[in-house]
Amino acid sequence: MQKIVSLCKRRGFIFPGSEIYGGLANTWDWGPLGVELKKNIKQIWWKFFVQDRDDMVGLDGGIIMNPKIWEASGHVAGFKDPLVECKKCHKRFRPDKLEDSSKCPDCNGEFAEEKMFSGMFKTIIGPVEKDGITTYLRPETAQAIFVNFKNVLDTSKAKIPFGIAQIGKAFRNEITTGPFIFRTLEFEQMEIEYFIAPKANWKKVFEKWLDDLYKYAEIIGLDKNKLHNNEISDEERAHYSKKTVDIEYEFAFGQDELWGLAYRTNYDLSSHEKASGQSLEYFDAKAGEKYIPHVVEPSLGVDRTVLAVLCNAYNEEKNRTVLKLDNKLAPYKVAVFPLLANKPKLVKCAKKVYNTLKQDFNTAWDARGNIGKRYFAQDEIGTPYCITYDFESLDDNAVTVRDRDTLKQERIKIKELKNYLDEKIK
Ligand code: GAP
Repeated sequence: MQKIVSLCKRRGFIFPGSEIYGGLANTWDWGPLGVELKKNIKQIWWKFFVQDRDDMVGLDGGIIMNPKIWEASGHVAGFKDPLVECKKCHKRFRPDKLEDSSKCPDCNGEFAEEKMFSGMFKTIIGPVEKDGITTYLRPETAQAIFVNFKNVLDTSKAKIPFGIAQIGKAFRNEITTGPFIFRTLEFEQMEIEYFIAPKANWKKVFEKWLDDLYKYAEIIGLDKNKLHNNEISDEERAHYSKKTVDIEYEFAFGQDELWGLAYRTNYDLSSHEKASGQSLEYFDAKAGEKYIPHVVEPSLGVDRTVLAVLCNAYNEEKNRTVLKLDNKLAPYKVAVFPLLANKPKLVKCAKKVYNTLKQDFNTAWDARGNIGKRYFAQDEIGTPYCITYDFESLDDNAVTVRDRDTLKQERIKIKELKNYLDEKIK
């Protein structure tokens, strides 16, 4: 894990949050390469689950919403953890996560009585704090989907069964955090609420979604032997769920939850109908009846997906460290080098190749050091192809293309590069 964290910092994937001010525990910032990797993971998810399907539409709801939403959803009452506070150092811990819950693991101090603490961050709307409205930063993106269910129905041709998908930030005042970006205070979710009739066979729908999650895992190149299903017990399930299966992944630090799949019944829509006084019923013309739909919810953490992808891709070989990222995920698809940086003709021609490829692929330029060092650097960030423009290129209008994984080098005509890379990357 430590090697992955250090590569992420060194190469500009992920930085510790607020670093020049001494940092802020469990917050992270995404660097130039991390942001590309994360964007690719989200784009592939959106294409696979929304754009390629006829039964899905998208939404982008607010992070700050009416606090009544969080009361109706059950989060104000239920999104809490039992914590114990040390009387001496005042640090708080989850007793179920302590090896010895009789004393503080940091200072051996005595604990005060166990209390429930909200996992939601509060914020105040309005210029005067005491007169402002207190609301919460959303702890899940899902509620924006439920409260917009009617708006989506009224403005789209959606017919049950159908789903609404959303990607966005969520915030949790987590007490146990880490490792690295696994559990943080601020993270992104890719969530779907898939609406079905109350009489539909939800177990079948659930199984189909489980299959689709495994298909997505395959598309982003995760090793399927490292994925495991964990059905959550009645005692541990969230307040809204009748069945939850966590898909766990064998991360570099151990096996833990990657994504979740839950059957939320009609809990949320019913609660919002009751609390808002607005009908959230659906008229099913085919069945000739009105009902409040039920939902199956696949919920994926973006940050955790990035972490799984990084753990999956990280390889140490004899003379190099290489991120064997799926080509679709790699921040740069290709890097272009002039063989020598002090030969203006080579640099000029190599730049021309770079500028042409840039129009179709995210392309890196590197003219520092020698070729070996450039390969080393591109391997560490997972660039699948490196192109060198050399003296021969001036005569044969071809370049050397080196494959990150096989290390094989091929001579390819410059005019054929686009097709060559299109073939390899798509
Ligand atoms: N809407 C359902 C929901 O939020 P969850 O199991 O609490 O369910 C779903 O969260 C996913 O969000 C998790 O499987 C995980 O990938 C991600 N996630 C949850 N809490 C997180 C945190 N503190 N840091 C990073 N990712 C988190």
